[in-house]
Amino acid sequence: MLRVKDLHVAYGQSEALHGISFSSAKKETVAIMGRNGMGKTTLFKSLIGILPIKSGSVHVGDQDITHDESFRRVAKGIAYVPQGRMIFPLLTVEENIKTGLENSKNKIIPEDIYAMFPVLWEMRRRKGGNLSGGQQQQLAIARALATDPRILLLDEPTEGIQPSIIKDIAHALNEIRKLRDITIIVSEQVLSFALDVADRLFVIEGGRMVHETARQDTDQDHIKAYLSV
Ligand SMILES: Nc1ncnc2c1ncn2[C@@H]1O[C@H](COP(=O)(O)OP(=O)(O)OP(=O)(O)O)[C@@H](O)[C@H]1O
Ligand SMILES: [Mg+2]
Repeated sequence: MLRVKDLHVAYGQSEALHGISFSSAKKETVAIMGRNGMGKTTLFKSLIGILPIKSGSVHVGDQDITHDESFRRVAKGIAYVPQGRMIFPLLTVEENIKTGLENSKNKIIPEDIYAMFPVLWEMRRRKGGNLSGGQQQQLAIARALATDPRILLLDEPTEGIQPSIIKDIAHALNEIRKLRDITIIVSEQVLSFALDVADRLFVIEGGRMVHETARQDTDQDHIKAYLSV
């Protein structure tokens, strides 16, 4: 479904990604693990088209989207939940979710959204800014799912979130996979969360993929060594 080949991305003269390759199948969830500053956000921004790709390619199915603008990638079924969530604090929960539907034909929130995130149904009339961090993260994911994407990019969804809510988010992601044909790419530093949701785990270090493993074969100590400073 998603094929990333030899991706090089730079900030001005300074290259941050030095040839990233990976792919992900339909209905598969892939975790990209890595410490702070290793290139996770740079990778996600280049996949959604916020950062230009210097060389390499990105394919969705058989379509080459390497040089597409962000809105075209969204139209082709990619949704992105940025690090830090970026919800609209003054809009209600319901209005926040509807911003994800701006360009869709029917502006109705799919029913399964509230089924996946019951807390958002309870809070649908509250302002986004009055939600807890964990609830805002669920809102950001719900907004991305409102467009019924084929590929969901989640950049560090558990950052700064308490363990019980991390479990809720893992549960919701696993529900989404049962309900929809969706490929999920998630960046993470929390190994237990990655093991709860991902079929395969990659480790990114210094802008390079340095390790790949299937969930069932994961050597947890080996990955923890990459994640600790
Ligand atoms: N706007 C920018 N200009 C120049 N360099 C940048 C910029 N943003 C990130 N970098 C550099 O690119 C590298 C990768 O950063 P990136 O934000 O992708 O890491 P990350 O894995 O997402 O880290 P974190 O876990 O802290 O979010 C770092 O060396 C960082 O300093
Ligand atoms: Mg980041």
